[in-house]
Amino acid sequence: MEVTILPTKELRGQVRVPGDKSISHRAVMLGALAYGETEIDHFLFGADCLSTIEIIRALGVQVFTEKNRVVVRSGGMDALLEPENMLDAGNSGTTMRLMAGVLSGCPFFSVLTGDNSLRQRPMGRVIKPLTAMGARITARKGNSLAPLAIQGGKLQAMEYCSPVASAQVKSAVMLAGLFTAGVTTVIEPARSRDHTERMLKYFGARVEVDGQRVSIWGRPNLTGKKITIPGDISSAMFFIAAGITVPGAKLDILNVGINPTRTGALAILKDMGADITLHNRREVNGEPVADLKVRGSQLKGTVIGGEIIPKLIDEIPVLAVVAALAEGETVVRDAAELRHKESDRITAVVRLLGALGADVSESPDGFVVRGGRQLKGAPCDSFGDHRMAMAAAVAGLSAHGSTTINGAECVDVSFPDFFDTLNGIIVK
Ligand code: S3P
Repeated sequence: MEVTILPTKELRGQVRVPGDKSISHRAVMLGALAYGETEIDHFLFGADCLSTIEIIRALGVQVFTEKNRVVVRSGGMDALLEPENMLDAGNSGTTMRLMAGVLSGCPFFSVLTGDNSLRQRPMGRVIKPLTAMGARITARKGNSLAPLAIQGGKLQAMEYCSPVASAQVKSAVMLAGLFTAGVTTVIEPARSRDHTERMLKYFGARVEVDGQRVSIWGRPNLTGKKITIPGDISSAMFFIAAGITVPGAKLDILNVGINPTRTGALAILKDMGADITLHNRREVNGEPVADLKVRGSQLKGTVIGGEIIPKLIDEIPVLAVVAALAEGETVVRDAAELRHKESDRITAVVRLLGALGADVSESPDGFVVRGGRQLKGAPCDSFGDHRMAMAAAVAGLSAHGSTTINGAECVDVSFPDFFDTLNGIIVK
């Protein structure tokens, strides 16, 4: 699918973004591990979370879907059954890595695979700790790439010092830890998103957090719950970025998750001069939520690096677009993890901004954008990566001429109605 974006001077209206992708995955997975019925409202029906649902169904758990709502009915963590076929995680790293943790604890054989992009992404980071806990896992390229063949079974609790600040690695080990008789601890080099910890507590597990150290007690009695998923701040960020970079923009973005492990981009944008205010703060199922008001702003460059990176890792493509439209230089560093996302997002960002006429250069762990040049509309590639396609659309709103995004259908991964939502706020 090819989508053309034209420049605009005004954006107006209210935006509601779909449910949080990370939380939607976890709600279905924990629903499958809990005894009884879990009802999930405002679930993200994006391709990634649908992959999780299909895998959970293939393990013998009942999952019913209605408009915006999912019901999971399970006999608990010991009721999962050996799947008859390979389990396809599609484009979803969260599905593959978290399910590798769950399947390691299940006394049967399973194979996890994914699409071309996912089969190139590093899996050694979960295979290593899960193997150390007692799972037998074999994979391509010296046990580093999917497909993963998993013989799960009796696991031992362990203390794992993770070399990467990754919520997927932390969560895989914690989920495997549920199947052990002891206490499993993960220590991270920097704090990553903590949705697994919050939701496990909500389902009744004992979880203790001490700085970058998280412990989970095995064999808890998890029981089905009602969950309402907050709007995804990573999806909201495209509208926040559009709202601050289009001069005459006035947007209200409603029901956005503002978990502090996810709000790094808000802090950076405020530091760049963005007019963003938070209203009506509340808490839903242990997750903080707010409504946001965003106005066209005068922006200046900044430095993005260090401990804040895991708190904004998914927002870097759109932050790069904001940087190109800001005055002065923005440096992104310590972000080599971007090379292991749905695309190599360092190279992809540099190519996208380069195609639009921005002044940008690549480094091994980030890039430098010298902002303030007028962007020129051009044909752009999505790199098969949902967040790159949406970042290109935000850039197109401020570029001279028309911007065409090839392969734009990949937005389905996290935000199926993205282009309709965008059309709804453009003042023509
Ligand atoms: C996610 C964790 C992050 C993030 C991804 C979703 C999760 O990945 O980039 O989009 O749901 O746990 P890493 O764990 O690889 O940092």
